[in-house]
Amino acid sequence: MKIFLDTADVTEIREANDMGLIDGVTTNPSLIAKTGRPFREVVAEICSIVNGPISAETTATDARGMQAEGEELARIHPNVTVKIPMTPEGLKATRALSKKGIKTNVTLVFQPLQGLLAAKCGATFVSPFIGRLDDVSAEGMSMVRDLLRMLQNYRYPTEVIVASVRHPIHVAQAALAGAHVVTIPGKVLKQLTQHPLTDIGLAKFLEDAKKIPR
Ligand code: G3P
Repeated sequence: MKIFLDTADVTEIREANDMGLIDGVTTNPSLIAKTGRPFREVVAEICSIVNGPISAETTATDARGMQAEGEELARIHPNVTVKIPMTPEGLKATRALSKKGIKTNVTLVFQPLQGLLAAKCGATFVSPFIGRLDDVSAEGMSMVRDLLRMLQNYRYPTEVIVASVRHPIHVAQAALAGAHVVTIPGKVLKQLTQHPLTDIGLAKFLEDAKKIPR
């Protein structure tokens, strides 16, 4: 399973990238707004840090506007993946961009058929948001399982990015379901490396190491 970092914070991205675990980055307008920096500058800097797909989202709401924005974003760096909201206009733009060989990530997917349509339009990636479904008492992961099955049934090459991840159990469930990618906040990446028994065990080993005669 590929691991993407779901953030626009370049310090966090550098740290995670140094661990050698990051295969790509996803951003959205809310994450970029938090940085307080210009959009293109942030996207370009992320592309200079991580060698993998970097999702940058369009904000136009009509297909022509999304396509124009997407083409401009794709010029920033060959790794830019144009993130497009799952709307009828978004599907048109996805089709047009994919015909031009521009990578796309259809986002804000909350039911499996939306993902199937995105795949049919040639999306490179599709992003089901599981945490936001859990928030409203629906089981986010069951949507991911259904979507994976639909894409496998017709052998679509579209990869599923499990998004809106809130905790390590979401990551474990994504891996068990066979998702292609999970995109996670820096906090969750840190949590994946930790276990209290690891810390206790290490403290004991270091203590005992001091007793070994030199
Ligand atoms: O990748 C999508 C993600 O950024 C949404 O996460 O936590 O805002 O639901 P969240």
